[in-house]
Amino acid sequence: MSTRGLILSGLGLALAASAAMASAATPAAEGKALASSQGCDMCHVAGGMAKPLSSYVGDSDSRLEAAILDPKKALGANVMMPPFRGKLSAAQLAALVAYIKAGGR
Ligand code: HEC
Repeated sequence: MSTRGLILSGLGLALAASAAMASAATPAAEGKALASSQGCDMCHVAGGMAKPLSSYVGDSDSRLEAAILDPKKALGANVMMPPFRGKLSAAQLAALVAYIKAGGR
């Protein structure tokens, strides 16, 4: 292959890679944005009233979902976390769970 051919095919690869990155925000990345926009981060921070979301990395999906949708039912009547049932779409709930299971990244 000529030098010019190599340069052109390299450019094509770089363009394809950046297009893929722009279109595919991962569920975990979406969950990170939701943790901020939904206010999770206000309580779930180091030194806050609740542990950082990353500390729940080992929990099962079903426990995380139950805790987010209906904290008082899943975790106990004294838990000072508002229920998010009806406030999150199924995709948003899945994104938050993916974010937590990715260790808060
Ligand atoms: C008003 C404060 C507050 C807000 C807002 C809040 N939480 Fe919580 N959350 C708590 C408290 C307090 C607990 C229970 C104590 C703890 O685990 O630190 C808790 C527990 C949890 C648990 C249970 C973990 C387990 O298995 O023990 C999960 C998961 C969770 N929160 C996720 C979220 C997500 C996701 C959001 C945003 C959609 C959110 N929380 C918003 C205060 C809050």
